[in-house]
Amino acid sequence: MDQEIFKSLKGLIGLMTVLVGLVSILIVGLLVVQYNPHLLSSSEKEREEIPPPLENGDAVKDGVHVATGLVAAEGYEVVVANCTNCHAANLITQNRGDKEHWEALIDWMQETQGLWDLGQNEAIIVAYLAEHYAPMQQGRRANLSDIEWYEFKKE
Ligand code: HEC
Repeated sequence: MDQEIFKSLKGLIGLMTVLVGLVSILIVGLLVVQYNPHLLSSSEKEREEIPPPLENGDAVKDGVHVATGLVAAEGYEVVVANCTNCHAANLITQNRGDKEHWEALIDWMQETQGLWDLGQNEAIIVAYLAEHYAPMQQGRRANLSDIEWYEFKKE
């Protein structure tokens, strides 16, 4: 009889040991996943396909500064730094003009809108704008000239 109890006790202890072991493994597993969540994602590739966030505003695609839409040519960083603080860059990209136009606009913003003295950067900005945001080609077809009219002769 005593031996019988001893036997079942032994069995119970064995069972408990196995259970504790399993629970420990589960806890360790959960901790590992908690601290390395990527272990759960199924493949290396899947992780790579997530596009990286725009880390900085400097990205340029197809020659255009993505964040502002400005042509990414010489001097555009100066324009981004000085001309996109108060209004969106599309105010600039929608505008067209020669050097005088842009100079006058900058003067106007300085006199009435609180635009700061641009110092040496003004020349860089104006050159950039006059080149890349120059007046549009004439929209209307120019009048025909130098036409040799066909002379209509009566037979
Ligand atoms: C201190 C603020 C400020 C800065 C910096 C600034 N602007 Fe402006 N700008 C304004 C304001 C205000 C307006 C008027 C906005 C409106 O009409 O809604 C304006 C309007 C404009 C317009 C539209 C003008 C029109 O006829 O509608 C253009 C183009 C422009 N800015 C270009 C520039 C350029 C180029 C620079 C960099 C040299 C610049 N801005 C920097 C304040 C600023």
